[in-house]
Amino acid sequence: MSHDSLSKFTLIVLATLVCVLAHAHDKNTLVPEGYDAYSAGPMPDRIILMMTPTPESSQTVNWRTNQAVSQSLAQISLALPTPGLHLEAKTVIGEPRAVDADNGGAHYHTVTFENLEPDTLYAYRVMGEETWSEWFQFKTAANAEKAFKFFYFGDAQNSVKSHFSRVIREAFMRNERPAFMLHAGDLVNLRDGNHDDEWGEWFDAGAFLNAMIPSIIVAGNHEFVGGLLQLKRSLSPQFEPQFTTPDNGPDGLKKTVYHLSYQNTLIVVLDSMSAIYDEDDAIKQAQWLDDLLAKSEHRWVIVSQHHPIHSVSAGRDNPVLREHWQPVFERHGVDLVLQGHDHTYGRGTSAPLPGSNRSETSGPMYVVSVAGPKMYVIGDEDNPNMQRMGEELQLYQTIEVASDRIHFQAWSADGVLYDAFEILKNTSGGSTVNDLIPMDTPIHRCTNPNRPEADRCWNGKELISLP
Ligand SMILES: [Fe+2]
Repeated sequence: MSHDSLSKFTLIVLATLVCVLAHAHDKNTLVPEGYDAYSAGPMPDRIILMMTPTPESSQTVNWRTNQAVSQSLAQISLALPTPGLHLEAKTVIGEPRAVDADNGGAHYHTVTFENLEPDTLYAYRVMGEETWSEWFQFKTAANAEKAFKFFYFGDAQNSVKSHFSRVIREAFMRNERPAFMLHAGDLVNLRDGNHDDEWGEWFDAGAFLNAMIPSIIVAGNHEFVGGLLQLKRSLSPQFEPQFTTPDNGPDGLKKTVYHLSYQNTLIVVLDSMSAIYDEDDAIKQAQWLDDLLAKSEHRWVIVSQHHPIHSVSAGRDNPVLREHWQPVFERHGVDLVLQGHDHTYGRGTSAPLPGSNRSETSGPMYVVSVAGPKMYVIGDEDNPNMQRMGEELQLYQTIEVASDRIHFQAWSADGVLYDAFEILKNTSGGSTVNDLIPMDTPIHRCTNPNRPEADRCWNGKELISLP
């Protein structure tokens, strides 16, 4: 090990020790010490619909039980007005996977319903140990162009049941049947272990919405858990079994990189954590995306990754993403890039890259948002790339997609519209971004009189600490 490497290693060790000591008593869930709130039982739990690449004709469901349930079995029927759903239901069998977590062993189940009719309401249930879940209903995508709406959430991460729950539930109360929900990474905090209670809280926060509205899940840095000192990280052991993804990404990154089509919109999920840790993984994803977009005939392209191309908060720059990904986004006319990680709100189109043929008024529109209670402050050096920013706001976003327009709205947890813009697509494929709120509307700043750190408004965990 060279002298420089040794120094870097020593610094990492010291920083980690300081961090571990400082947060040794932090609690990130509402579960009392020693109480077993989230071990797997005979009844199915953590039931979640995961969007497939063909949502007009297929739907995947994941759920969890104890390990006594050795078969993955689900039933599906057209949603009927009558209670005898089971009479016409088709039984579909999948495969369980065993996972050992700190709440004990569990079986994670996956079933994919296929040959479904487009734009149709279905009912399904999943099996536990001599019992069933309730019947849940979901609607398939249309197979022709039809306007739809979806939710986009930034990081939930800390005190998830206490504070993220009101955001996802408020979004649902104000919007009828969204097509899907996109979570842009850091759903939970994890990082230094395998905290199954945090996953339990995340599933509790979304509750039955997870089982009725398909999800798209982006992996953030906190979905990776590390051994000692974070020197080697791997995906949380629950991640893959509980979030089935399409398996159509580049080799070596298929669990976290993939694409989906919802009618005339292509949705691409990238893995910025792997890209930042290993530049080869940034290049691999750029080449895969370049090929994918060159062949795409979709009207709209939406990309989501956790770390932002343009940061909003101080000291969180990700130049490797700008070097390898931004040129691909611009070359192929990506419309919208949905991101998290910075624990602030910000959106902007930024200046076109040198040599780019995109116009000043077109996308990509880069957005950073946050849904949970961990809040940072805006870094002044990043302002030139942002047209609208905010601090200390728990937000959800509704995004309506029609043939000629994307209508984006950011709503605070108390139901106030904080930001809005539209992207208009002309007949030749060009686009124009228009602000839909006055750009001199004051930005929301941190109000916490007792900031935990100069660049943090809230840590998020102190909100559930006992007096
Ligand atoms: Fe993050």
